[in-house]
Amino acid sequence: MNTIVTGLQWGDEGKGKIVDYLTETADVVVRGQGGNNAGHTVIAKGTKYILSLLPSGILWDGKVNVIGNGVVVDPIGLVAEIGRLEAQGVSITADKLLISDRCHVVLPLHKELDAAREAALGDRKIGTTKRGIGPAYCDKINRNGLRIADVLDEAYFREMVGYRTVEANKVLAEYGLPTFDAKAQADEVLTAFTRLRPHVTNTIPVLHKAWKEGKTILFEGAQGTLLDIDFGTFPFVTSSNTTSGGSCTGTGMPPTAIQAVVGVCKAYTTRVGSGPFPTVDEGLSQYLHDLGREFGAVTGRPRGCGWLDAVLLRHGCMVNGATGLAVTNVDGLDQYETLKICTGYDIDGVIHELPPADRHAWDRAVPVYEELPGWQQDTSGCTAFADLPVNAKAYLQRLSDLCETPVQFVGVGPDRAQTLVA
Ligand code: GDP
Ligand code: IMO
Ligand code: MG
Repeated sequence: MNTIVTGLQWGDEGKGKIVDYLTETADVVVRGQGGNNAGHTVIAKGTKYILSLLPSGILWDGKVNVIGNGVVVDPIGLVAEIGRLEAQGVSITADKLLISDRCHVVLPLHKELDAAREAALGDRKIGTTKRGIGPAYCDKINRNGLRIADVLDEAYFREMVGYRTVEANKVLAEYGLPTFDAKAQADEVLTAFTRLRPHVTNTIPVLHKAWKEGKTILFEGAQGTLLDIDFGTFPFVTSSNTTSGGSCTGTGMPPTAIQAVVGVCKAYTTRVGSGPFPTVDEGLSQYLHDLGREFGAVTGRPRGCGWLDAVLLRHGCMVNGATGLAVTNVDGLDQYETLKICTGYDIDGVIHELPPADRHAWDRAVPVYEELPGWQQDTSGCTAFADLPVNAKAYLQRLSDLCETPVQFVGVGPDRAQTLVA
């Protein structure tokens, strides 16, 4: 069975942990969108790993990990990431990691353009990760991006980086920022590329062969539904389709190859960066930060925290076609006395069960809450779903009812082993 693992909130739901857990029974793990704006944390046997471009299956031996065509690859960032993982004892060989020759390349100039645009937006900034994701996808859609296949052709690559640098330098000069030397930039990318070259291939037939042979393929989503360029809180989103459809266009695998979609969400809601967040709650944010939780894996930024939002999850289950939920961080709510779930938004006196498209309507959305009693017991030691406190099970059941999707997995701690099957 081939499964997509996708985020149902604003990213950081615990996708990496769920993918790592499911990799034990899978053969191939593939990423189809995003770039190193992602930060997926996996804790296995007491060691913490952070994956940004590498699929989370990389920690297991004997599995094939694929960076699909829809991912934007920063070669310099990827080489650094490979180095960090190798230093932690993870082997990253050419048979274990495959990179699509169709991936678009994130150049150093994309990162500068990302930062420059954010600075120019001032108060209206998106709060990007400054990894150059928006500008790189922009070039792809604008049809002047460079793909990995283009890097293989060094003369062509140098020529094109030259053109792109002239264009980017005009923009940077307008902002009064330092400009780029095309040669130095191309040299830097080409040097990084020597480490990546053995991994580059046409990944489409590899995935199709695995499918035809009945192997199990996991599609690892990055970011989350509310950061999706179409279905998220536009314009405070990322620049790719983070929802399940992106797994097809981003890998070359058709919808008919996929049987299941696991929607990952936290037992509460978090968000980093700017944009609307109706259920944000200062008390809950403080409580979780005091526990040392909810600081970003990539940037270290504290995440805003709020109550579980069934309006968002209903929408997420719908657009992703979620066949099951993985609810993580249930242990985060262990000691809270009374919990809230948002069941609708009151916008100008009208109750909405689905998120609005109008960006200004978000600012007027007042959450309608339902209260549930907490369980006030430690769940982190639970080893089976049946061990969970009655109130925790009731909370999960209510969530499942509101989304019309069964709970399939429950996370009660960051470790691989702290995953329960419902
Ligand atoms: P991703 O981007 O969706 O892979 O999620 P991140 O790794 O960015 O953020 C999820 C955070 O929650 C990380 O710090 C994980 O280690 C942690 N985490 C995941 N599942 C659980 C869980 O069930 N309980 C606890 N306590 N932490 C979890
Ligand atoms: P994972 O895969 C959480 C957010 C940024 C910003 C917006 C746009 O770890 O869940 P970008 O750099 O993509 O142009 O930033 O999207 N963002 C994420 N937030 N988790 C992520 O990835 C994110 N990737 C991007 O904070 O608000
Ligand atoms: Mg993350």
